[in-house]
Amino acid sequence: MAARHPPFDDPAAVVAPAVAALTPSTQSLQALIGAFRRAIARGLAGEPSSLKMLSTFVEQPRGDECGRVAVVDWGGTHGRAALVELIGAEGTRTLAEREFVFRESDKSGSAEDIFGEIAGAVEAAVGREGPLPLGFVYSFPARLDGIDRAVALSLTKGWRVRGLVGQDVVALLRSALARRGLDRVAVTAVANDTVSTLVLESYRRRARDPGARPADIGLILGTGANQAADLPGAGVRNLESGNFDGVEGVASSWDRALDSEVTDPAPGAQRFEKMTAGHYLGEILRRALLDPGGRAPIFRTPPAALRAPWSLDAEHVSAFARDGSDQLSATAKTLRALDIPSTDAERRALCALARAVGRRTARLIAAGLLGTATFIDPELRADRVVAVDGSVYGGFPGFPDLVREAFGELAGSTAAERLSVVYAKDSTAAGAAVIAAVAARR
Ligand code: GLC
Repeated sequence: MAARHPPFDDPAAVVAPAVAALTPSTQSLQALIGAFRRAIARGLAGEPSSLKMLSTFVEQPRGDECGRVAVVDWGGTHGRAALVELIGAEGTRTLAEREFVFRESDKSGSAEDIFGEIAGAVEAAVGREGPLPLGFVYSFPARLDGIDRAVALSLTKGWRVRGLVGQDVVALLRSALARRGLDRVAVTAVANDTVSTLVLESYRRRARDPGARPADIGLILGTGANQAADLPGAGVRNLESGNFDGVEGVASSWDRALDSEVTDPAPGAQRFEKMTAGHYLGEILRRALLDPGGRAPIFRTPPAALRAPWSLDAEHVSAFARDGSDQLSATAKTLRALDIPSTDAERRALCALARAVGRRTARLIAAGLLGTATFIDPELRADRVVAVDGSVYGGFPGFPDLVREAFGELAGSTAAERLSVVYAKDSTAAGAAVIAAVAARR
């Protein structure tokens, strides 16, 4: 400790400027809510907007859909194919499942290889079952022309698969299934993961009570961040809200640097996602640690591992924020595994920063949700349901409470009480099964 400069005895003081930079004012978040709402309106009107408001061709379920459906859930390194059965209020039962994991190099590989891998998983999951409808969760931006036609737009979350953009992902999946002779599996519906989560929650509600109102908003906060919403007069839309760009008033210097240095997605694209989603949270924390502003650095001689971009991920951020042990021994262990030696004071500073990164995410996400909710219902007079899934929402300590707190801060306690946020873990594949069943009924 003797070698440390004086402020280092007080970790809270060392991180104070960085915590402040990660704490946008209430006013700036309220401005974001208004900008978000206007971006929705422009997107729906077909005017230039960072919110694409993509059509989904999805109808809300009645709750009485049933039967067996195959599903594919792909939108990142971990995906799955499954055979599921719709069972009403409980949602779905998984009868068989096969996970697939892509390597870092697959992110820039060929679409044919990706879909070949997926078709292999479908074959293993469905076994001899069939004929079967298949619901495909494709969790990247896509322009749908119908419930079973989705033309891939530019990719997100660090992916840039060759031969995908401009192609119909349903056609790609169908040819990969055909190459394996899986003619008994018919791809009947494609949907974004946010749409799947929304629809599954609607299904569960209406299976319990056929007169229940469906869910209003679907939110994914995992590797990526996005919303879907059932909008009056416009139906269920995929906002691709990760691309919302009205963030200047709340962005920190680390966000601006990250945005300009990342090439996939390009600078200027996915601004909101780059500030809130799991794919980026570790990198935001790492940048803030290295250059926290104020008078003193946190790690006096930053270890090489900390100087390497992307060395921290969202799970690290959650683990640091959760650590309540004496001497922050859990954090010490995680850091040692990363080859980062640390002192007690350094760990205290690090954990405080990790909490600030998570809290900021919750406040930004709450503001985005309020943008949509106030578009639907300007005075927030009726009860609204937000269905949410994703590793950051489910993994960061106390995240649901942080979102709720932010609703109160930004909209007042009465309005905040009207918004119920329902955590629907592992909802995306199940939701796709419901979507395929609804499509089959049509
Ligand atoms: C990214 C994708 C979006 C998806 C989200 C969550 O934002 O562009 O389609 O819903 O990640 O997986």
